[in-house]
Amino acid sequence: MTESTLTGLLETVWSHLSRGVADRKHPARHPTLATLGPDGPELRTLVLRGADRATATLELFTDAASPKALQIAADPRVALHVWLPKPQLQIRARARATLNPGDPALFARLPAEAQANYSGTVPGTPLDTPGDRPTGGPARFARITCTLTELDILHLGTPHIRALYRASDGWQGQWIAP
Ligand SMILES: Cc1cc2nc3c(=O)[nH]c(=O)nc-3n(C[C@H](O)[C@H](O)[C@H](O)COP(=O)(O)O)c2cc1C
Repeated sequence: MTESTLTGLLETVWSHLSRGVADRKHPARHPTLATLGPDGPELRTLVLRGADRATATLELFTDAASPKALQIAADPRVALHVWLPKPQLQIRARARATLNPGDPALFARLPAEAQANYSGTVPGTPLDTPGDRPTGGPARFARITCTLTELDILHLGTPHIRALYRASDGWQGQWIAP
């Protein structure tokens, strides 16, 4: 795989995203997701749960009652960011996000502490003590599907190279100034 062609660079990017889904230690495992909130942009780390080049989608899990879910419902425009230190790659994506129910069978198989991430007190609610206790069931276990519209890739090699790929032209890509 070569980063010196537009197709090679795009392949490298999707291969890292797929590895992030499969490998807990891969840095693509933890993208930063940006949404548009009432007071401006909001950023947070999530676990990457799916990456499908054929549909240009990335999948994440969240609590349907969380602020990010409400923000997506109000405005589906999101961005994602990943920095991969070893290959020296920055991945920036623009996407449209949709919120879908999570799989109840998958929820049932999660350990109790993981279930609590999707069923405790609504994230951001003030608490009298640190931490939270789980309540409820799988109803708030949700999938965020991000359908990518643009990928901006920076490779910090010698020289630095940067390419912009758009869904609108079939992801053919264009070199741009880094
Ligand atoms: C390493 C790491 C992984 C996380 N994974 C998720 C995740 O997969 N889904 C999620 O909703 N929140 C995850 N969080 C918590 C979010 O970053 C965030 O604090 C929480 O979801 C509330 O976000 P919101 O108030 O913007 O909705 C993770 C945090 C860290 C530090």
